Amino acid sequence: MRKTLIAGNWKMNKSAAEAHEFVAALKEGFPQTEAESLIAPPAIYIESLIKETEGTDIQIGAQNVHFEDEGAFTGEISPAALESLNVPYVIIGHSERRELFGETDEDVRKKAASIFSHNMTPIICCGETLETREAGQEKEWVSGQIRAALEGLTADQVAQAVIAYEPIWAIGTGKTASADDAQEMSAHIRDLVFEIAGKDAADQTRILYGGSVKPANIAELLEKEDVDGALVGGASLDVTSYIALLNGG
Ligand code: G3H
Repeated sequence: MRKTLIAGNWKMNKSAAEAHEFVAALKEGFPQTEAESLIAPPAIYIESLIKETEGTDIQIGAQNVHFEDEGAFTGEISPAALESLNVPYVIIGHSERRELFGETDEDVRKKAASIFSHNMTPIICCGETLETREAGQEKEWVSGQIRAALEGLTADQVAQAVIAYEPIWAIGTGKTASADDAQEMSAHIRDLVFEIAGKDAADQTRILYGGSVKPANIAELLEKEDVDGALVGGASLDVTSYIALLNGG
C-alpha cells in the first residue's frame, strides 16, 4: 500500500558535468521497478536536472529550504522558489543541518509547514547520536524530534509526510543499524504518528531508513514491515549502485 521511496541525497558532491552524466545514465538504465525514485542534488543543479528528467520517473528534490517565502536571507532558498520549479520533495532536519548549521526542532517545524503550504512534501529527518543510543534514550529522543516537526500539521499532511530515521552513528560510517533496529524504531515512529494524527495517517506515512544503505543491505531493510524505503547518501552517488537500490539490491 505504501510505495517504496528510494531517495538519493547527494549532499555537497558532484560537479555539473558529473551530475548531468549521472542523470543521463540513470535515464538510460532506469529499471522496471515498483519503487519511486528521487534524487536530491546540490540546489544549483535542481532546475536543469528537472528539465532533463521531464517525462521520466526520476524526480528531483531539494536538500534544504528556508521557511520564509522571500526576503533578506542571503544564501538561502525559499519554498516559493522550489515550488516554482515543481520540486516534489524537500529534505529537512538532516542531522548534518542540525549539527553543522544549527537547525533546530523549531526550524524543522516551520519548514515542514511552509513546504506543505507550497504544495511540496517534506522528508523529515530524525535520529539519535551513539551516546543517546548507548544511554537507551533513542526512542525518547526521536519522539521529541518528530513531535516538534509535526506540530500544527493536519492529519492529511502528516499522512503525506515522509519521515527518515537516520541514526547519526550509521551515517557515512559503514555501520548500518541492523534491519531489526531499523524496524523497531520505524514501528515506534508509526505508533507515534498514530497517537498524533490517527490511524489513516499512521497507515500512510512513509518511514525511510538512512545510514550506510547500499545494494548489499537494502533488501533486508525493505523486507521490514514499517520500513518504506531509504534515504541514501554515499551509495546514491554512483549510478550503478543507485539503480541496484531501485531494484531492491
Ligand atoms: O541522507 C543520507 C544519509 O545521511 C545517509 O548517508 O548513506 O552516506 O550513510 P550514507
